[in-house]
Amino acid sequence: MPTPRLTVIGTGYLGATHAVCMAVLGYEVLGVDVDATKIARLAAGQATFFEPGLPELLAKALDSGRLRFTTSLAEAAEFGDVHFICVGTPQQANSHAADMTYVDGAVTELARHITRKALLVGKSTVPVGSASRLAALVHATAPAGTEVELAWNPEFLREGFAVDDTMNPDRLVFGVTSPWAEEQLRTVFAPVIAQGTPVVVTDLQTAELVKVAANSFLATKISYINAMAEVCEATGADVHDLAEALAYDDRIGGKFLKPGLGFGGGCLPKDIRAFTHRAKELGVGQAVAFLREVDRINQRRRARTVDLVRDLAGGDLTGVRVAALGAAFKPNSDDIRDAPALDVASTLQRLGAHVRVFDPAALDNARRTYPQLEYGESTFDVARDADVVVLLTEWAEFRELDPAAMGQVVARRRIVDGRHALDPVIWRAAGWEYRALGRP
Ligand SMILES: NC(=O)c1ccc[n+]([C@@H]2O[C@H](COP(=O)([O-])OP(=O)(O)OC[C@H]3O[C@@H](n4cnc5c(N)ncnc54)[C@H](O)[C@@H]3O)[C@@H](O)[C@H]2O)c1
Repeated sequence: MPTPRLTVIGTGYLGATHAVCMAVLGYEVLGVDVDATKIARLAAGQATFFEPGLPELLAKALDSGRLRFTTSLAEAAEFGDVHFICVGTPQQANSHAADMTYVDGAVTELARHITRKALLVGKSTVPVGSASRLAALVHATAPAGTEVELAWNPEFLREGFAVDDTMNPDRLVFGVTSPWAEEQLRTVFAPVIAQGTPVVVTDLQTAELVKVAANSFLATKISYINAMAEVCEATGADVHDLAEALAYDDRIGGKFLKPGLGFGGGCLPKDIRAFTHRAKELGVGQAVAFLREVDRINQRRRARTVDLVRDLAGGDLTGVRVAALGAAFKPNSDDIRDAPALDVASTLQRLGAHVRVFDPAALDNARRTYPQLEYGESTFDVARDADVVVLLTEWAEFRELDPAAMGQVVARRRIVDGRHALDPVIWRAAGWEYRALGRP
């Protein structure tokens, strides 16, 4: 079979990484986005978001001549044999459901222009049942006589590790309706499969469900240990030691069992909400009703972090100078979608505190979305004269802070460790009042 030419539709966090990696693996790739500025920057070799290793691979892919970018879906239809759909599926403004307008729009527009046999491969995270609905949409839209098939290949990459997760994924999931579609996908992922990556071949709806089931499990594990933190807070127990002890049981394991401020970002929160919504539509709402509680526990951690800062400040936040360390929803990313850090910083500000935020990568995004907050240029800049420091995103440079040096610049040595990222023994020995969620 000749090597298929690929398009990647939607060049955000997922699509840009996928397009670059596939070109580096040897495929001809056309990246497509409706955002002309984004496309111009990518074509000029500028990564449009922070992702370790991506700028170097983007340069390599462009140099190879195998990666190009366009805003034209008609050009994409003309170019590609296999089209990856990587557009966003955010939460709808007035509901917990996923907003499918971007996926529907991209698929319809592409299908209108397709004139030869092609495979459309969904990578976006969608409500179960979307792929069969989209298949019908494609057949109704594509010019008569064109053979277009739809497959689903959910994406599991983690921001911050996106390149490695794309090149060396834990597993590949192919939701297909024909041996031809499976063969196409096996060809497209041949270099990845050759490394021994397991492949699960299944139907469309199972492939869609794998992604939301995985994210629901991860969210549940985080909220589980944070629920234990609430119990610890009521009893004087230490959730940090509790988590460590649980983690030695390899049936439980330590990953995603870290107590703290909880999850955020462009995936887990909206995915568990969309799943709950979809399950209700399917008449099985009860089966995942626990996810509502998972979400509530997660939200309460944000409120509780604000409480800890207020407690440390003596019960009133009015005029209290707070140094907020972190804005991104997690370290090694500039993604601030549903970021717990900015939620906490905004609440502190609303309650009267004078908050200054620093983040190593997400300041530009934060400034655009939260212009009401004040920002500084470094950790020491925001910490200067602070009454309370609050660590909100566990960047390595925050984990490695020297309490003695920090102690020189703050007004009061008081720190809330929202991510269990610091050693309380060392910080207390340096004269700091140290507080963390679920710890005495
Ligand atoms: N970010 C992640 O870590 C990650 C991981 C796994 C799965 N996902 C899923 O992947 C999907 C994309 O997520 P993201 O984080 O990359 O989102 P994103 O917002 O960063 O990127 C989406 C891109 O799609 C573009 N777009 C919208 N409509 C379009 C159209 N009609 N034609 C072409 N481009 C269009 C937007 O301009 C944007 O650049 C979501 O469903 C998400 O849940 C994301």
